[in-house]
Amino acid sequence: MKKYLKTLIILTLIVAATFSFSQTLVQIKQRGKLLVGTEPTFPPFEFVDESNQIVGFDLDIANELAKRLGVKVEVVSLPFDSLIPALQQGKVDMVIAGMTITEDRAKVVDFSKPYFEANQAIVVRKDGNFRPQSLEELIGKKIAVQLGTTGDLIATDVKGIEVVRFQRFTDAFLELQNGRVDAVVLDEAPAKAYVKKFPKFILSKVVDTGETYGVAVRKGNKELLNFVNQTLDIMRASGTYNKIIDKWFE
Ligand code: ARG
Repeated sequence: MKKYLKTLIILTLIVAATFSFSQTLVQIKQRGKLLVGTEPTFPPFEFVDESNQIVGFDLDIANELAKRLGVKVEVVSLPFDSLIPALQQGKVDMVIAGMTITEDRAKVVDFSKPYFEANQAIVVRKDGNFRPQSLEELIGKKIAVQLGTTGDLIATDVKGIEVVRFQRFTDAFLELQNGRVDAVVLDEAPAKAYVKKFPKFILSKVVDTGETYGVAVRKGNKELLNFVNQTLDIMRASGTYNKIIDKWFE
């Protein structure tokens, strides 16, 4: 009798584990929408277009994921440093935000396989003659970053740089335009997008940081993580990945 009871308990545990395991995908399907957290001042990955829609490379990945689940994407727009807490609290299913896979973040969330390679860049005003060629040349200067980004981390790591932190990159660039800071440090592709849109800025130097972006899901959410990884594989194999690269990076 004892033996049967033990078997029963083990079986119950396995069934329970399987159910909690597959809960997210079922939940998303039942809900009919995939909740994606992002911070939309990061072109071409996520930004607000002329018709007030949040669009970009990351949203195309989100749409592909949603399409395979037969649901719609619902974008939850948050400050960058609130994205991981929102994910942990279950307010979003995943974060797709040009988020660099870092050791510290990987302690609290799980990352998909890398989907993009990135470096940091230093952007300055074109009309001045300040053209820094390294982070060290920012010592004694005032720079703007987005709060909680890798740009924030690497600039803060250099003693003597005065770092001013903003929730939105648009505000960081406003500060640069108004001459209240000497430079903005941010990821290379968004740096290029801002410089292209606002010719009064210039990209002074790319700082090689060798970062990669990943989609973040709640820690231990293997089912969703596998689904994301599988979708990324399919997107690469089918040419969809290259298509969206061409779309957003001409
Ligand atoms: N790659 C950088 C990081 O992970 C910046 C990402 C900013 N993304 C955004 N959507 N604002 O810290």
